[in-house]
Amino acid sequence: MARITAGIATSHVPAIGAAFDQGRSGDDYWAPVFAGYDWVKEWEKSEKPDVVILCYNDHASAMMLDVVPTFALGMAEEFTPADEGWGAREVPVVQGHIELAAHLAEQLVLDDFDLTLMNSLDVDHGCTVPLSLMFGKVAEWPVKVIPLAVNVTQFPTPSGNRCWMLGEAIAHAVESFPEDLNVQIWGTGGMSHQLQGPRAGLINPEFDNSFLDGLIDDTDRLRAITRLDYLRESGTEGIELIMWLIMRAALGPDVEELHRFYHVPASNTAVGHIVLRPKSIGALAQAAE
Ligand code: DHB
Ligand code: FE
Repeated sequence: MARITAGIATSHVPAIGAAFDQGRSGDDYWAPVFAGYDWVKEWEKSEKPDVVILCYNDHASAMMLDVVPTFALGMAEEFTPADEGWGAREVPVVQGHIELAAHLAEQLVLDDFDLTLMNSLDVDHGCTVPLSLMFGKVAEWPVKVIPLAVNVTQFPTPSGNRCWMLGEAIAHAVESFPEDLNVQIWGTGGMSHQLQGPRAGLINPEFDNSFLDGLIDDTDRLRAITRLDYLRESGTEGIELIMWLIMRAALGPDVEELHRFYHVPASNTAVGHIVLRPKSIGALAQAAE
């Protein structure tokens, strides 16, 4: 049986990818950002997930205004890093997991989620920057990835609560996949940031830290945050946090926090990162010892 063993959330700032690719991660500005990911890089070496369901958003890299899918599931054998205007990142091509992706598509549509199925998809910094942060510089990514892109760039965007329900449905779908697979689910984007308009540069540490706290044991409060609340409290791009709710919902009711990091700023963004384990998985591991 496939099992979701952990959830990870992280911001996905493109300038982090540029600093990483250009060997500037040790610069005074960037060193504290990258240090926040030392823990997870070591931890992933022993966790060895088989597949990551990577909930992110496309930033008009693969999906422009002609087609605006609310939830788009990556069904391809592989996903090429997107050219976001300055050439594609020189990172490995992302390998998909067709069988689990097809199972997710089937189960989620049966569960009333009207997914868009992407048989071809270039993945942008929302997907590749988190992979670099978790796995560092590698010749091949050590996991297969099922990208799940959520529309947060064009209204109407889905509500946080709808994303929560999708996360619950993903958990059920993974549980019914017969092959033994160690699956992680990631949510990328956020935390507070605004890239345009009079409030450009907005950061709200109080909102962000309260969101991080809520992920542990106050999830009903997070589910109720509206799109207008995100806009007001966390800036125009803060709504990327709804991807974190898909991740959190897929872990079940009780989680333990394994690691947390918060740093302001990286580019225009408050960087947040958290690693969560479903308590049911922690209990199984203890019983096996
Ligand atoms: C920045 C952050 C993002 O999440 C993004 O998608 C693009 C830019 C930034 O802070 O520069
Ligand atoms: Fe973004």
